Amino acid sequence: MKIEVKNVSKEFKKVVVLHDVNVTFEEGKIYGLVGRNGSGKSVFLKMLCGFYTPTSGEILYDGINFIKEKTFPSDTRALIEKPDFISDLTGYENLELLAQIQGKIGKEEIVEVLKKLHLEKDMDKKFSKYSLGMKQKLGIAQVLMEDPKVMILDEPFNGIEDETVEELRDWLLEEKKRGKIIVLATHIKDDIAKIVDELYKFNGETMTKVSLEK
Ligand SMILES: Nc1ncnc2c1ncn2[C@@H]1O[C@H](COP(=O)(O)OP(=O)(O)O)[C@@H](O)[C@H]1O
Ligand SMILES: [Mg+2]
Repeated sequence: MKIEVKNVSKEFKKVVVLHDVNVTFEEGKIYGLVGRNGSGKSVFLKMLCGFYTPTSGEILYDGINFIKEKTFPSDTRALIEKPDFISDLTGYENLELLAQIQGKIGKEEIVEVLKKLHLEKDMDKKFSKYSLGMKQKLGIAQVLMEDPKVMILDEPFNGIEDETVEELRDWLLEEKKRGKIIVLATHIKDDIAKIVDELYKFNGETMTKVSLEK
């Protein structure tokens, strides 16, 4: 599958945030989006998964404009900005509730993903008692747990300890080999520079491809 972003612009009340963005995301690649705070990374990702509608231009998943069709891109999971869950439920219960929507996975898969993130020891704590890093990990777990084709992660490593970040980076490299489309946004380029296949920079309403010195 592929995702085509064609001439996409986004304005909020006449204020231009993004102008004429063009990019194609293909299977088996990790894409990095960098840029300072407020440069439009999160707005772009929200359009990519249909939370925001482009002011002009279109986004096609295998040729289908899902925003026009009023559907959600299937097999796509996203973590955009800070993870939000039901504070009164435990980490595990939150994931279980979300997994029930699709009914594709059960306890075993959920616990497995929690282990991968070193969150299993905290899975029975209420979300309201989670630290920032634990909340972030739960957000990543929600993206990973159903093995989606497209993974969209916004500032994924915020607040997560170095060792786990290193493991997650290795794991993302494995996932891309399995044919995933992975889109990562960060204001800290070093977080992702080593694992991305293509890098794009948001700057002054535009998004441009950056060459990778490897
Ligand atoms: N819902 C909204 N309404 C108005 N302005 C918004 C909205 N969401 C984001 N913006 C503005 O768009 C710009 C880009 O924000 P954002 O994409 O969150 O930046 P970042 O690159 O840090 O993720 C900022 O100026 C922000 O204030
Ligand atoms: Mg952002």
